[in-house]
Parts: sequence; structure tokens; C-alpha cells
Amino acid sequence: MLPTINPTTTQAWKKLEAHYEQMQAQHLKDLFQQDPKRFEKLSLTFEDILIDFSKNRVTQETMQLLLQLAQETGLQEAIDGMFSGEKINFTEDRAVLHVALRNSSNSPIMVDGKDVMLDVNRVLDQMKAFSEQVISGGWKGYTGKPITTIVNIGIGGSDLGPVMVTEALKPYQQPNITTYFVSNVDGTHIAETLKKVDAETTLFMIASKTFTTQETMTNAHSARTWFLENAKDEEHIKKHFVAISTNTKAVSAFGIDPQNMFEFWDWVGGRYSLWSAIGLSICCTIGFENFRALLDGAHAMDQHFQKTPFEKNAPVILALLGIWYNNFFSAEAHALLPYDQYMHRFAAYFQQGDMESNGKSVDRNSQPVNYQTGPIIWGEPGTNGQHAFYQLIHQGTKLIPCDFLAPAVTHNPLSDHHPKLMANFFAQTEALMNGKTEEEVLKEMQAANLSEEEIKSLKDFKVFEGNRPTNSILFKQLTPRTLGALLAMYEHKIFVQGIIWNIYSFDQWGVELGKQLASKILPELLNEEPVTSHDSSTNGLINQFKAFRS
Ligand code: F6P
Repeated sequence: MLPTINPTTTQAWKKLEAHYEQMQAQHLKDLFQQDPKRFEKLSLTFEDILIDFSKNRVTQETMQLLLQLAQETGLQEAIDGMFSGEKINFTEDRAVLHVALRNSSNSPIMVDGKDVMLDVNRVLDQMKAFSEQVISGGWKGYTGKPITTIVNIGIGGSDLGPVMVTEALKPYQQPNITTYFVSNVDGTHIAETLKKVDAETTLFMIASKTFTTQETMTNAHSARTWFLENAKDEEHIKKHFVAISTNTKAVSAFGIDPQNMFEFWDWVGGRYSLWSAIGLSICCTIGFENFRALLDGAHAMDQHFQKTPFEKNAPVILALLGIWYNNFFSAEAHALLPYDQYMHRFAAYFQQGDMESNGKSVDRNSQPVNYQTGPIIWGEPGTNGQHAFYQLIHQGTKLIPCDFLAPAVTHNPLSDHHPKLMANFFAQTEALMNGKTEEEVLKEMQAANLSEEEIKSLKDFKVFEGNRPTNSILFKQLTPRTLGALLAMYEHKIFVQGIIWNIYSFDQWGVELGKQLASKILPELLNEEPVTSHDSSTNGLINQFKAFRS
């Protein structure tokens, strides 16, 4: 059982409220001036990853109080509960064991009296053998040609992780394999993908934990129809369709050979599933050894998370800083800004990871929360974001804490691109912190020989308050191991926040209502009758939709 402590009732929370009153007026610039060792004190390293959290609006006292909050809300007990296979996903009566999927130490993890590592290792062996066959050309299509193209059909957790990882690890891509991802039920997604592929050499991976998700099943059936139009014989399906699911029955009913099914289990949450058989498209794209290295990196971070005292624990620190802004500064959002083009789906991935996990408003005592929970997560790679939305982060009325992430060594050392990219990274975090005072603006304008009148009319617009908090996460290079560690770090950050907010992070009831209503509306769209069963807006929209199409 997870602890059920309302965080606002803790001593630490009350002290943090009082402490916030003092900290509000403190400028980051001054904090750096007061302590030349601030960077050393407020940064930590994990393997090849440096996490600099010194550009946050905190003092040692803030950190102490936040750590006290973690203690008072029973964080250690919750961490132990997750790692030992307790059913901490209470509302679905499930354990939460993505950590078992990458448990390279192989220590037993028991669920319902059974060591899950036996199943984990069996499926990993199956994934290894299969991906090696595909990559080596040993797995042949119905005309005897080797597979050259993979189309992964899935959505949400059965799509976002594999997309993000295969993009992030493109430098490790096998030269003979091209991978596409189809997720949207909009027919355009599958139609445009099928235009690019050849039935004789394409392998479809139908990835769905439940194997009932409307989008995935619709796309899978369209792929099957298209394939049979080409291959003409249902016998050929077994060479071109594999399934990744927890639902053996539905997989067989679809017509996929159970031999071609890669299993996972109900204790793997969809948005935490890239480490499971859902990662099969990753294995076939970058090779099993690289997938293994990804798992190993995540496992190393898991151990760090489980065993390191909170004051040096990367996920715990990041989570506490997030709570500081979310609950005391009333920050509503958190931006993820990777300065690495390969990581262009990183923010999208953690939109699901974070918002589906911590977008909750009922606590673990079944009571409505009386405090804020999960933030809005968004972001784009730098430097593109700088030319789009950074204006608001610098001078807008909202406080948006940001994580800047970047590799020191690029996979593409093209002239001076990387130093230029990194100069922007460092400049942005410095600018966000320091801002620009009126005095500095005046000096600048005088140096540019602007008239007194021009200076007077323009100066106010050029002042930046600064004091905008950032974390800088600088790593040596974006390797499979480092990516694995970074992903696990953010996963555990989300976990810590969910524990402190006293919510259940591993269910997602909020996405159900829309699904239910969509299946009720679908038949109404397919007949000629005017619709009257909804509110006037929904009726009006549906009837106009039908009129446009008639
Ligand atoms: O969006 C809701 C959700 O249940 C996600 O949690 C999940 O990742 C996604 O749908 C896909 O589900 P499945 O893998 O069962 O098709």
C-alpha cells in the first residue's frame, strides 16, 4: 500500500509556504553573487550526465525543506513498494514494474508468488532472435525477399516511445532497415505510409497492450487488407504480421500466428512500455545490442534512484524542484528543451509520460485534491524553439521552468554547427537567469547612439526581469545507454511527484470517456438520419458534418 498523506498537512509544506514568501523576492543573480560555489553545491553527476540545478530559485534551506517533504510523504516506502512488485497501481490492482523489464542484475522480482524475471528474459530472448533474423535478412517475405521495411502500428504508449527512441538513436540505425510508425486513425497516416512501402519486403508490427484500441485495430485491418490485395493469400500473413500485446485471444482472432506474438504483462503501463516487447521496432531498427544498452542505462538509473540518498538523487531532486514551482510559485507548465535534433520527439513522449500519469485530481484517499498536481508539459528542440515561443518564457507573464538538455559531442560534427548550437544553449539559460536591467538597456541604447526620445519610448520594452529557472542537463553523447538513463530519470521524476501529490500515477481513467462517446457517435455518422440525441452544439456539428458530405 502506498502512503496516503495529503502533502499540504505536512510540516514541510507549511514551512515551504512561509519560505516561499521570502524567496519570491530573491533574484537568482544575487544568489550566484552571494555564493561562488553555488554550481558545485547545486549540481550532480550520474555517469556521463551532468545535472546542473543551480539556476533554480532555491537556497540550501529550500532544498532541505523539499527533502523533508519527500520524507514526510513516505517516498522511500513508495520506492521500495514499486521495486518489490507491490500492487501500487491500486485502481487497476496491478504492480508497476517497468523496472523489471530492464533489470539486468536479474534479481528476482515477485508478483503473485512468481518471479517475473523468467518471463522478462524469455521475451527478451525472443526479441533478440527475431530482430537478428530480420536484420540479417534471414526472415523472408512471401516472395522470398528479405524484410527491408518495418511499419509499427500502435498509438500512445505503443507508439510514442518507439518513435522517440528510434529518432533519438538514428545514428545507430541498421542500414538495411527503414522503419515507419502509424498511429493516427486518420486514414491519411496509413495511406501515406503504404504509398512508400512494398508488400513483399514489409513487416507490420501491431503493437497494442489491449489489442482493442480503435485506432490501432482500424489501421491494422487496413494494413491487412492492403497486404492481401498484394499477396493474395492469407497464408502469407504470418511472414508479414507480428503482434505485441498482453491479449493472446484477440491476437489470434486477428489472424496473427501466436508464434509471431511478443508478450508483455499487465504490470507494464502503456506509457512505460518501450522497455518491453513494445520495443521490438526499436530492436529491429538499431539492433538488439543497442536496445540492450538502452535497457542497461535505464537499469543503472533505476539503481541510482532506489539506492541514492535523496539529496543526491537525480530524479528526486528534479521532482522536488518541479513541486516547488508547481505548488508554491503557481507555475502551470514545464518545458523540455533538448538541444539535439535527434531528440525532437522527446517532449512529445513525456507529454504522455507525465500528463497521463499525473493529470489527476482525486487523491489516494479518494478525496478531491486541494492543491495543484501535474504540470502542462511541452517543448521543441533548440534552437527552433528560440525562434518560436521563447519570447513568452523570457518576457511573458507566466513562470515556465525549463529543462535544457544537450550532448557535448555531436554525431554530426559539421563545421561549427555544434559549438553554435551549444552557445545558444548556454546563452539562453544565462539570459533567462540574468535578464537585462533598465541600466543595462540604457547603456546599450546610448552606445548605439539612439536619441534621448527614442531611448525614452523604447527602453521599457527591452528590460527583461530574468529570474527564470532552468535545469541544464549536459551529457557526453546521445548513446543508447545515456538515453536509457535519461528516460528512466524522467520516469522516476514523474513517480516521485505522483507520490508526493498523493495521487495514483499509473492509471488513466480520464481518457476513457472520450473513447466511450466516440463509439456511441460513430453509428450516428454512418446513417442518413438527423441527429437529436446530444446537446444542441454536438447535434449541430454532427448534422453539418453529414450535410457537407451529402
Ligand atoms: O490513451 C490511453 C491509452 O490507454 C494509453 O495509456 C496507451 O498507451 C494507449 O491508449 C494505447 O493502448 P494500447 O497499447 O492498449 O493500444
